[in-house]
Amino acid sequence: MSNPKTIQIGANTANPYTLNRLGYGTMRLTGEGFYGEPKNRDEALRVLKRAIDAGINYIDTADFYGPGVTNRLIAEALHPYKNDLVIGTKVGAIRGSDKSWNPYSKPDELRKSIDNNLKELKQDQITLVHYRFMPAHEAHFDESVGAMFDMQKEGKIIHVGLSNVSRTQLEKGMGMGNIASVQNLYGYHQRTTLAGHMGGAGGEEILDILEQNGIPLIPYFSLHTSLNKGEDKIEEMAKKYNVSPAQMNIAWLLHKSPVMLPIPGTTSVAHLEENIKAADIEISDEDMAYLG
Ligand SMILES: NC(=O)c1ccc[n+]([C@@H]2O[C@H](COP(=O)([O-])OP(=O)(O)OC[C@H]3O[C@@H](n4cnc5c(N)ncnc54)[C@H](OP(=O)(O)O)[C@@H]3O)[C@@H](O)[C@H]2O)c1
Repeated sequence: MSNPKTIQIGANTANPYTLNRLGYGTMRLTGEGFYGEPKNRDEALRVLKRAIDAGINYIDTADFYGPGVTNRLIAEALHPYKNDLVIGTKVGAIRGSDKSWNPYSKPDELRKSIDNNLKELKQDQITLVHYRFMPAHEAHFDESVGAMFDMQKEGKIIHVGLSNVSRTQLEKGMGMGNIASVQNLYGYHQRTTLAGHMGGAGGEEILDILEQNGIPLIPYFSLHTSLNKGEDKIEEMAKKYNVSPAQMNIAWLLHKSPVMLPIPGTTSVAHLEENIKAADIEISDEDMAYLG
């Protein structure tokens, strides 16, 4: 089974970036309801520093985490940034003071959000930005994605990605410009539905298109949807390989497709260390077939 260690975003563009195939997602480095400061700020900073020291060079964030909390923690822990670090952010939502998640995706709102991300992350240009779809955006999807490509032409953004998109939206986006990555809900137990969409062929269908086009899939909630399910094949294989279920889940993702770029989130250095080691697990072809 092919399990390369790295992947490229923007492979066929003037600005390719080579990423280690295990990234880190920061959303959990916030307070309750992904709002406000984390319970343990020092540990949050340690997690970010350790991720980079261990060779992770893709960090996922958004200005609506906190809001502003994960971006500011990233800057505090890691700025000035290592040359090979790619910080991928997201736009398309804004938080209410009641911790609600609200649509924020009209072109002028996207621009404000990009400027916000640039300021919080202390950057002049954002390497990767995912336009994160919410059902309320449906009516102006083309206009919003068009605004992302406009900001790319202006130099604010290097690469445009999409998040929470259906096959139709992905194909539409790919027709408008180069889509560098897709960030969708995907995990061992979560391959058929899409966040914000009603059922459908979902993750597997999207993955096929991404594989055909060499575009990375950045799956989210992979552990969240797969841990604590009780006895299942992941737990069975974790025992066989003498690793934790979280590690087996991450290893399965990495073996599932060479375009997969997992970003397991954690608030602890101990779990981060465990997750990093998962990238070294070699699952046999026979066991991958059994896992399905
Ligand atoms: N585009 C979108 O709409 C979207 C939506 C959600 C998330 N995201 C992105 O995806 C990233 C990943 O999602 P996520 O962090 O919400 O969920 P996740 O990666 O599926 O799971 C995180 C959960 O797993 C636990 N965990 C991590 N490592 C573990 C280990 N080794 N053993 C046991 N438990 C472990 C964490 O608890 P501990 O803290 O105790 O380790 C946390 O509760 C986010 O950080 C965010 O960047 C994007």
